[in-house]
Amino acid sequence: MAMKKDPSGTSLAGLDIAGAFFAPIQQSAPASPPKPHIKISIIGTGNVGMAIAQTLLTQDLADELALVDALPDKLRGEMLDLQHAAAFLPRTKIVASTDYSVTAMSDLCIVTAGARQIPGESRLNLLHRNVALFKKIIPSLVESSPDAILMIVSNPVDILTYVAWKLSGFPSNRVIGSGTNLDSSRFRFLIADHLDVNAQDVQAYIIGEHGDSSVALWSSISVGGVPILSFLERRQIAYEKETLVNIHKEVVNCAYEVIQLKGYTSWAVGYSVANLAWSILRDQRRIHPVSVLATGFHEIDCGEVFLSLPAQLGRSGVMTVINVPISDEEAEQLRSSAKTIMELQEQLGV
Ligand SMILES: NC(=O)c1ccc[n+]([C@@H]2O[C@H](COP(=O)([O-])OP(=O)(O)OC[C@H]3O[C@@H](n4cnc5c(N)ncnc54)[C@H](O)[C@@H]3O)[C@@H](O)[C@H]2O)c1
Repeated sequence: MAMKKDPSGTSLAGLDIAGAFFAPIQQSAPASPPKPHIKISIIGTGNVGMAIAQTLLTQDLADELALVDALPDKLRGEMLDLQHAAAFLPRTKIVASTDYSVTAMSDLCIVTAGARQIPGESRLNLLHRNVALFKKIIPSLVESSPDAILMIVSNPVDILTYVAWKLSGFPSNRVIGSGTNLDSSRFRFLIADHLDVNAQDVQAYIIGEHGDSSVALWSSISVGGVPILSFLERRQIAYEKETLVNIHKEVVNCAYEVIQLKGYTSWAVGYSVANLAWSILRDQRRIHPVSVLATGFHEIDCGEVFLSLPAQLGRSGVMTVINVPISDEEAEQLRSSAKTIMELQEQLGV
């Protein structure tokens, strides 16, 4: 008998394949109630979107992964390429379409769509190109998944997180920018490299704008639970302020360097965003520096602005923001970034 695939591609027409293949066992108990189905959508299947997708797949976090892009051939190619790894990965249904209905009932929507940063281009220059895209993307996501959490990755991430918040009408705890989670991981790597220790043993935060005016919280740096600066001072070990300042400069410049060398950044942001997705969807209540509505913190009073602050993430999105003690100079830097961002936002008419 000729066997044809049915349109769903999961069974064979005219043949009860499961009944023929599997024999029932005796005294089987009824199935236990199904666990909640976790669905993640990724909008934009470029370098960043695909790095996030592949990291998520290795983490066994989602039951379903939906991909959306404006380029149908590239999108289908990426979907097939990921599906072909099924034999090596935890089971995840992978679907893709240029139509947003494919994202219906997502728990988390990760937006990476956008114009790519060209070598030497500042993140702020990307703004106008990306706002126009968001005016199409965000309302479509909201219509398909009204209860989802939005995670914005496209740059300039702080302003686009604000734009997504405004366009979505969601409460601010459900709109999060990946922010300085990546900058902080670069910071931790560079400090760990300098001290020759494991980056996972280094606690260090970069807050504020993802990019040029980010603020390094020097007093937050600890290694194995030991605050580094006060340790050096107590032991009267020469204070390597210049080294630390140079490490922060390297954090700011290293994205430009990677883009100069390979054309884009992808692997680190892939791990960074997958890590945020895990904290949210598995209700980990971990603290990450991410872009949140920062108005009211550290006397930021110039209007509604998103900047990265250490925030506790769980199943409801942003659960709390840590009111971390910072120096007057650091607070002033934050307020100055907020003002610059506000000035740009006011020109957007969102
Ligand atoms: N926040 C961070 O830490 C961080 C880090 C790296 C990159 N980024 C940003 O992520 C974004 C993506 O970077 P990339 O290197 O993947 O770029 P890319 O050009 O490789 O991918 C962008 C994708 O978006 C798609 N796209 C464009 N318009 C669309 C639309 N209307 N709907 C759906 N898809 C659309 C494109 O077809 C493309 O596949 C950029 O804005 C970049 O600056 C952010």
